[in-house]
Amino acid sequence: MIKKFIKQKQQINNDNILTIPEHIAIIMDGNGRWAKNKKMPRIKGHYEGMQTVKKITRKANDLGVKYLTLYAFSTENWSRPEDEVNYIMKLPVDFLKTFLPELIEKNVKVSTIGFSDQLPNHTKKAINEAINKTKDNTGLNLIFALNYGGRAEILNAVKKLYQEIDVGRMSIDDLTEKNIEDNLFTSDIPDPELLIRTSGEERLSNFLIWQSSYSEFVFTKTLWPDFDEQSLIDCLKIYQSRQRRFGGL
Ligand code: FPP
Repeated sequence: MIKKFIKQKQQINNDNILTIPEHIAIIMDGNGRWAKNKKMPRIKGHYEGMQTVKKITRKANDLGVKYLTLYAFSTENWSRPEDEVNYIMKLPVDFLKTFLPELIEKNVKVSTIGFSDQLPNHTKKAINEAINKTKDNTGLNLIFALNYGGRAEILNAVKKLYQEIDVGRMSIDDLTEKNIEDNLFTSDIPDPELLIRTSGEERLSNFLIWQSSYSEFVFTKTLWPDFDEQSLIDCLKIYQSRQRRFGGL
């Protein structure tokens, strides 16, 4: 344990980062434009995006980040061409085939947020295997937002609470923000202190809309396949320069 702490501290000093957020959330955007710039099919951008996921997972783990949540597929992404959707749904299979042994070795715990029951069977199978094989790991929590949408997540929580009220197990006057939080996919995950979006777009696109109320947002023009370890450090330096006041002075 002491050894691990010293290692992290040295790493932090090497990168000159003093404040490591406990939870970093990333909107991985720009795969399509990256491919288009290179006159390649869009799926090649997603393939390279998957390689970036590996790099950033390793770096976040080395830095001692506790939660890394990656927006991999939104509830709105189903409207993309079928070939592209099929390709993205195969990515977790390829990713875990090549990367799961390293995730296990590095003590990383894999999980998902989102409406995972609606994913294709092969996607679910690969993810469930990764979840099972890493469930006792205590290092970085690598969380894939798959078939995730913030509004649908809140609506889902409201429906569950309504049922509790309807059967008389709960009174409307007792309803608190904590009740909503307890019914979100992220009930056991702290809110992200830092939310990064790549590719120059500056919006949330339905990602963690409840949980990011007090997050620091860092928008970078770098396209996701070009985002690397140094890009993450640059974002952390911007985060470090911000003062978080949570509505106070
Ligand atoms: C957004 O870029 C990217 C996605 C919708 C897919 C993200 C998926 C990955 C990065 C790979 C995930 C890997 C695993 C293991 C699940 P875009 O296609 O919207 O880019 P564009 O805005 O330039 O068109």
